Amino acid sequence: MTIGILKETANEKRVAMLPGEVAILKKLGVDIVVEKGAGEGAFVSDTEYVSAGASTAERKDLISLSSLLLSVNTIPDADLDSLNEGQILCSVVNPAENSAWLEKARTRGITVLALDLIPRTTRAQSMDVLSSMATVAGYKAVLAAASRLPKFFPMFMSAAGTIKPAKVLILGAGVAGLQAIAIARKLGAVVEVFDVRSAVKEEVKSLGGKFIEVEGAKEDAAAGGYAVEQSDDFKRKQQELIQKKAEASDVIIATAQIPGRRAPLLVLRETVMKMKPGSVIIDLAASSGGNCELTENGQTRIVNGVTIIGKSDFPSDMPFDSSKMFGSNIVNLLKVLIDKNGNPVLDMADEIIAGTTAVHNKEYVSMRAKQILGIK
Ligand code: NAI
Repeated sequence: MTIGILKETANEKRVAMLPGEVAILKKLGVDIVVEKGAGEGAFVSDTEYVSAGASTAERKDLISLSSLLLSVNTIPDADLDSLNEGQILCSVVNPAENSAWLEKARTRGITVLALDLIPRTTRAQSMDVLSSMATVAGYKAVLAAASRLPKFFPMFMSAAGTIKPAKVLILGAGVAGLQAIAIARKLGAVVEVFDVRSAVKEEVKSLGGKFIEVEGAKEDAAAGGYAVEQSDDFKRKQQELIQKKAEASDVIIATAQIPGRRAPLLVLRETVMKMKPGSVIIDLAASSGGNCELTENGQTRIVNGVTIIGKSDFPSDMPFDSSKMFGSNIVNLLKVLIDKNGNPVLDMADEIIAGTTAVHNKEYVSMRAKQILGIK
């Protein structure tokens, strides 16, 4: 089988796989073709891909000769139109936002492996691009906040006097939030954390954060470890407590999400108005509506002297290591997908393959994709 690695479009700087992972993938007995210039955004040359055992080609040729195409984001419609029935696409899909694109792929008989649908199980952990990218986002969010804040993060005792450490409030202790706690602590900040899942309490503590508990959080074992929508009473209590903590904070890193729903609204306009001028809010939930009422996705705003950065694409700002993790996750998935002759086998009895296959043979397969799209 020939696997094609596409160059990303728009402003994406990542690439689905770097040369190091190409060399590992080659060992599965496949041929790999890389689109010319695919690694440019991540500072990797075509020559490095060739040294790793790949060949390079123009986009049109690569699309026609590859059985399986890899990209970070979904390919543009014009490319989708040029594919043949039976070709396999593997990328992050985001079915809720790209339902029309997915429907088109289905009717055309294209097989789509959605990397964001990989089950969040222990066996699939090494393939989990959402976790990898959330790790990058949590790290970059803290650095962005530190570089914007008109204060130090660590405590300083100098001849000029003592500087107090920055206070960082983290909303949501999932993968991105936990990474943000670790980095903010390494930079010397005092960190307080909100989450609705009691399971994260010990993890927060072990990273040096203080877990703030709001009584009455709803948890549901059937949600597969994810958060669920909270009662109006809980939301009001939580918003009040967040407001109290926000008034004393220098930085808020907001990461709270509920799969398939708008991100919970945790920082209200009135909370921002009570924060200290110079404070910084980084809202990683921006693309799903934002945790802050004043967030605008992809924008930096200053309101009442508070900088509010709505940004969900931090991984593209750190393209080399993001691409390295992304490609490594794909290699681990392809180890399950590809047989000993180097050909893809879509074994739907395997929960990872069945969970990741959004569409195949003109049908929707993944239960989660169907759930998200409301398909019975
Ligand atoms: P996410 O991006 O869906 O949400 C981020 C965090 O926000 C979560 O911790 C969530 O509880 C929290 N949150 C939601 N609503 C909130 C509210 N109103 N107030 C405060 N916090 C709120 O989460 P992520 O990072 O995708 O992880 C979700 C779950 O998946 C976790 O249990 C994690 O351990 C699990 N997971 C499992 C993996 C595996 O086993 N392969 C890999 C990655 C994550």
